[in-house]
Amino acid sequence: MTVTTSYQGQIAVVSIDNPPVNALSKHLRHDLLDAVIRLDAEPAVEAVVLACEGRTFIAGADVNEFGKPPEAPHLPDVVASIEHAKKPWVAAIHGNALGGGLEIALGCSYRLAAPKTNFGLPEVKLGIIPGAGGTVRLPRLIGVEAAVDLATSGAVIGTDKARVLGLIDTVVEGDLREGAVSYAQSIVGLPKPPPLSLRSAPQKDGDFWGQAESTVRSKSKGEIAPSKALASIRNATEVDFHAAMAFERSTFLDLRASKQAAALRHVFFAERAAPRPPELNGVPALEIRSAAVVGGGTMGAGIIAALRNAGLPVILIERDEEAAERGLSNVRAIFDGLVKRSRLTAELAADRLAGVQTSTDYDTLKDVDLVIEAVFEDLVVKQAVFKSLSEACSAEALLATNTSYLDPNQIGAHVENPERFLGLHFFSPANVMKLLEIVPTSVTSPEAVARGIALARLLGKIPIRAGVCDGFIGNRLLKVTRAQAERLLLAGATPSAVDAAMRQFGMPMGPFEAQDLGGLDIAAFQRKAARTRGEAVFAPIADRLCEIGRLGQKTSGGWYDYAPGDRKPLPSDVVAGIISSEAGDRPSFPWDGETIAEAIIFPMISEGAAILDERIALCAADIDLVEIHGYGFPRWRGGLMHYGLEVGLTNVVERLKDLSSQGLAPTPSRGLVEAVVSGSFGG
Ligand code: 3HC
Ligand code: NAI
Repeated sequence: MTVTTSYQGQIAVVSIDNPPVNALSKHLRHDLLDAVIRLDAEPAVEAVVLACEGRTFIAGADVNEFGKPPEAPHLPDVVASIEHAKKPWVAAIHGNALGGGLEIALGCSYRLAAPKTNFGLPEVKLGIIPGAGGTVRLPRLIGVEAAVDLATSGAVIGTDKARVLGLIDTVVEGDLREGAVSYAQSIVGLPKPPPLSLRSAPQKDGDFWGQAESTVRSKSKGEIAPSKALASIRNATEVDFHAAMAFERSTFLDLRASKQAAALRHVFFAERAAPRPPELNGVPALEIRSAAVVGGGTMGAGIIAALRNAGLPVILIERDEEAAERGLSNVRAIFDGLVKRSRLTAELAADRLAGVQTSTDYDTLKDVDLVIEAVFEDLVVKQAVFKSLSEACSAEALLATNTSYLDPNQIGAHVENPERFLGLHFFSPANVMKLLEIVPTSVTSPEAVARGIALARLLGKIPIRAGVCDGFIGNRLLKVTRAQAERLLLAGATPSAVDAAMRQFGMPMGPFEAQDLGGLDIAAFQRKAARTRGEAVFAPIADRLCEIGRLGQKTSGGWYDYAPGDRKPLPSDVVAGIISSEAGDRPSFPWDGETIAEAIIFPMISEGAAILDERIALCAADIDLVEIHGYGFPRWRGGLMHYGLEVGLTNVVERLKDLSSQGLAPTPSRGLVEAVVSGSFGG
């Protein structure tokens, strides 16, 4: 039983218990419907309180059921039965009232909430729209603008805002159930308020809808659901309640079966599985209560900000006092930027900065639980840092390197107790990007990996276990992206055509714009190191740009020209000249956006399969999360490998063979060829 009923005088308390988040699975819908019918038939009951056990009110429909055909009783019928019950229902809400959970609450006559409760219609984040009256009842309760904001963005609001909008009637400060029962007793004898289905919908003119449509389109970039949510709200203001419900339901059912919804569900579950690799099941993670960062440059400062945002006191170690002061001002600049953009109050920013202590003395680190090294990408420098850390820190301290390309096995070769050493590869800006690659060496203990994962969760990041190779998962794929982008230039495409195609595909930026923004020198340095190691690196045009000092926006020229002080990329004659001299008499191809995207993405899928084949990534979903959270791959496409499966691996291989026969891509990897045979990536 997912629903039990208890009584306090004339008040029945219907209590839902369907862990972990009281999702509206079929059994719960059935039991709730049953409760409505039963309580309607109990003459002694005057009002009903609906409350939930555990950490939250109903978090929505059961996402696990979305891959299967819908089964009765359907949620709109459950909501309607509550709305039309003979007795008034009072929702007692704590934790979250999301999606179907909020729709159930909208069916109740009154809504009470505990402080710090979240309310929202997050369906668009799953590629769908509300399917049980969210777009029809909500505008009738809180107005069209607020409903549009919530349903098209999937954002949540807290108790205070919900109160202001009229979404809830009362905030209960003490015990929620007791408060709800008292409230229910206070309404006994009053007429039941008219349900939202009988209220008329507010009207808006064409200008409002036109404006709303263009705002939603510009924010949703390729996602279908937000515009559909808007259309459903608009329809709900133009037709009667029943027609509006029918329109919403049919849109919901269409989207539920769509590729975007499947992709977004895949990401939803992948994100929840990533912090729990099966081999770490039951491995304890020692708590991290304090941290230190060595090196306060771009990455060190971002990592410090992330650690401070999570409340950890941090010591910054630099080479000398001057560098330490510079490092601290790098951290200050991050917090100042947040204040400027109203993301943080000046008071909180000051508090976060005050929690950073600078030092040049490793002896200050004897009590810290974690040290992250973010010094120059130089093996000798990093090894020296870890020698000092080994001597200064306690034997239990977790020691981590943020190296991008060096081998952590070598960096940690002389660490004492090397089982507590690993790579923690943050992405820039480290206080913003959600990805954290966790890179164990051959001797890192499971406990240290578990601790790295726990740190990621503390910082609100997605931990992905990556094996040791050049670039781990993310940067190894990035090298393929960049090499392919250059191959396209040699075959007749322009930088702006390539960037436009990748934006059209859904990336936030094209590969050339991104390099100009970050600076071409970082990758040049890495190529030089790789060539020193005897590795072949394909970047003929980028090499030439670096030779002539075109390092991107910071030198007012890279792949594009820039007017001084302006970030608008302008096609460059210099670059066009270099491309044509490197291309020589190679044939040009008539590239269009779709073929450009294929020529970049398909080789990445092939490399992703090689990464799986070599066990550098544990599963394809982890590669999906790396691309989404490290590089902005469109979430609604489900990530790189999910996209490959959706396109069809046979198609990917055939296209790759075609491209490689013309010298435009590497041949398909063994991992990809094997995945075609088995029909999946395994893992
Ligand atoms: N259905 C099924 N399982 C769900 C779920 C849902 N709606 N929401 C969460 N879960 C599961 C998770 O998969 C996870 O399971 P696991 O432990 O086996 O991995 C477990 O509940 C805990 O989830 P989180 O790790 O996310 O827990 P948090 O405490 O961090 O967050 C939450 C709780 C805020 C409720 C978050 O889980 C969440 O945002 N869930 C999704 C809510 C949602 O999208 N609701 C709308 C669904 S669509 C809908 O309602 C359609 C309707 O209009 C018809
Ligand atoms: P950076 O050059 O901005 O900063 C390096 C800092 O380390 C400087 O402040 C320097 O004074 C300090 N430092 C150098 N030697 C030191 C020593 N012996 N002791 C104490 N401090 C010392 O470099 P950045 O970009 O922050 O990179 C740091 C590390 O992070 C590198 O390993 C890099 O590969 C990695 N990384 C860089 C990313 C990026 O986008 N910049 C992304 C992910 C990782």
